[in-house]
Amino acid sequence: MERREAGQQINRLREQIERHDRLYYREAGPEISDEQYDALVRRLRGLEAEFPEFGTADSPTAAVGSDRDARFPSERHSRTMLSLLNSYEREEIAAFDRKVRKELASDAVVYTVEPKIDGVAVAVRYRAGSLVLGMTRGDGLQGDVITANLATLAEISCRLPARWTDALPAGSPDTIEARGEAYLTLTRLAELNRQRETDGLDPLANPRNATAGSLKRLDPDEVARRGLSVFFYQLFLIDNEGMTSDLASHTQEIVALRDLGFPVNAFLREASNVEEITTCLDELEALRQRLDYQIDGAVIKVDRTDWQRQLGATAKAPRWGLAYKFAAEEAVTVVEQINQQVGRTGVITPVAKLRPVALAGTTVSSATLHNWEEVARRDVRVGDTVVVAKGGDIIPQVLRVLPEKRTGTEHAVEPPRQCPVCEQPTERDDGAVALRCSNPNCPAVMAGRLRHFASRQACDIEGLGGRWIDLLLANEIVRTPADLFRLQRQELADLPGWGEKSADNLLRFIGRAPQRPWAAKLFALGIPGVGTATALTLARNFPAIDSLMTASSAALAELPDIGPVVAAQVSAYFVRTENARLIEDLRAVGFFRAAEEVPPLVSKTAATGGEETRAVTWFAGKNFVLTGSLETLSRVAAQEQIERLGGKITGSVSRKTDVVIAGESAGKKLAKARKLGITIIDEAAFSARLAAAYGETDG
Ligand code: IVH
Repeated sequence: MERREAGQQINRLREQIERHDRLYYREAGPEISDEQYDALVRRLRGLEAEFPEFGTADSPTAAVGSDRDARFPSERHSRTMLSLLNSYEREEIAAFDRKVRKELASDAVVYTVEPKIDGVAVAVRYRAGSLVLGMTRGDGLQGDVITANLATLAEISCRLPARWTDALPAGSPDTIEARGEAYLTLTRLAELNRQRETDGLDPLANPRNATAGSLKRLDPDEVARRGLSVFFYQLFLIDNEGMTSDLASHTQEIVALRDLGFPVNAFLREASNVEEITTCLDELEALRQRLDYQIDGAVIKVDRTDWQRQLGATAKAPRWGLAYKFAAEEAVTVVEQINQQVGRTGVITPVAKLRPVALAGTTVSSATLHNWEEVARRDVRVGDTVVVAKGGDIIPQVLRVLPEKRTGTEHAVEPPRQCPVCEQPTERDDGAVALRCSNPNCPAVMAGRLRHFASRQACDIEGLGGRWIDLLLANEIVRTPADLFRLQRQELADLPGWGEKSADNLLRFIGRAPQRPWAAKLFALGIPGVGTATALTLARNFPAIDSLMTASSAALAELPDIGPVVAAQVSAYFVRTENARLIEDLRAVGFFRAAEEVPPLVSKTAATGGEETRAVTWFAGKNFVLTGSLETLSRVAAQEQIERLGGKITGSVSRKTDVVIAGESAGKKLAKARKLGITIIDEAAFSARLAAAYGETDG
């Protein structure tokens, strides 16, 4: 491959991987399977190895993905929380073993093999036997503090058993940290989904995302109701200086964890060569079907911790461990129909209705076909025998067609020319593969939009699930999100299946929507391409709806994490008449506020539990003047931040000015500040002060 082409491919891959990282870690809504994701990473790694001139320092191959969430305070980990290298082929295990033996110059290496739990990594710290800290992985260096949430798990106690020190070597420090994986059992997930169905809510798609979402609820009582479980697989000690140390082996850690009362997985095997490892993998793979929780592979670790230290780690993963990922479980079944599903943006997605078949612990009766081009390219027809799999155990997918099973009675389905719901013509955006309904008032689109608006990460209107939305639409009480704010108590109470109490409840939640954080409200609008992470970026840089509506797509594209495509989608959204009308309507019902709750620049936020603890910061009581242009922040956003932290902004430099923030090509004001001997800081120093200030207010 040519150098130029390689460079382009590297860039494309990095962009793709970063996007999927964001979807997986921050939005808990992956679009591709782990296997597909790993294939992208491998291709990138291969190219980076071949063309080292393209650098890897800030490549996604060099970093752990991040699930940091600005709504929680964050804290540094006592020791980096790494990820693991994935492998799919048994040959890769042999290569791992060879490397380990060579590095350790020993043939007496003992490995452990245990299940890889498909959940969310958590860390808990105990001092003198009491739980003092619970965290997520975050970006590996810093995690979100979710102590109260983790304390609600039945399997995490706030106190260790009375004689807990007996489980540890004599003379151990009194602080310990246990790390493991929180997860939802399949039984619990099914229970939750039954309840959600009764409540008219959408089902939780899979246990991992449900776990991630549950841990990030702001109300610990809600976390408690989810009924999460946890397995611990790592234990270390922390001394007074914050230095960490290990027990002698992984096996001893597991034994100590068990003695300390932590739940540990029952499957832990020792293996001293590749054959023995393989036997363990087979055993585990057979066990997999019978477990009440999802595992996506096995973890192979060098047992001795002194050897683990000697082997060390890359920025992303330890060299002493390897994840062996099981192939997605597959099943063969028949496509009974190809249905059309209309989403909230009007996109019509083909969905295969399948003859029900057992797959990875559940019965599967439908699978996504992604888009119509894909249907044509893979030539999936009604009546075809197909292989289905749960991509990384998410939504089932049609992997391939088995053409040899065709009898001639199968028939292809053409992309629809009309919307299956409202029968209006379909259209295709320029250059896009997605086919959509052209009717902004299509009932399916209206329902989808309302569902999205009410969803947890948007306006969090509890009790307004799919069934109730359909009822409101069918009775023509509500058409757009703005109509929700005009609902009358009596008209709700009169609906079949409703009463005054549920009407009051719903109205209370709707009434709170305008107080939702600005990023959540922006997300609620359902702008194509704007997920929760993008909404957060937009909210940070545009403190109110008006400034966002008038932003050019060029200005948007300059923001971190926002590419030209999303920038164009955002500005196109506001141009469309029906959207502009919706915004005006929402404004009329009081949904937008003059001063929105703008999220801080850094994820250290003081906003926990809805209450803000504001400490005195470096900014408090000082007069600031901004001059020149800033790279990472708009002026309005910078002003917001300063005011939030107790500072004041003025337009011109005088003797009363305390600090001048000088951006790029600052002019006269800077000169005047110099003359008056006023403190001048550049953008980097300003950002550092902001970061520190949010650290200070961090309760
Ligand atoms: S050991 C240094 N053991 O898988 C990393 N991880 O893909 C030590 N996981 O981040 C991790 N089950 O969240 C380990 N038995 C197990 C695991 C496990 C699940 C998760 C963990 C890790 C991720 C890596």
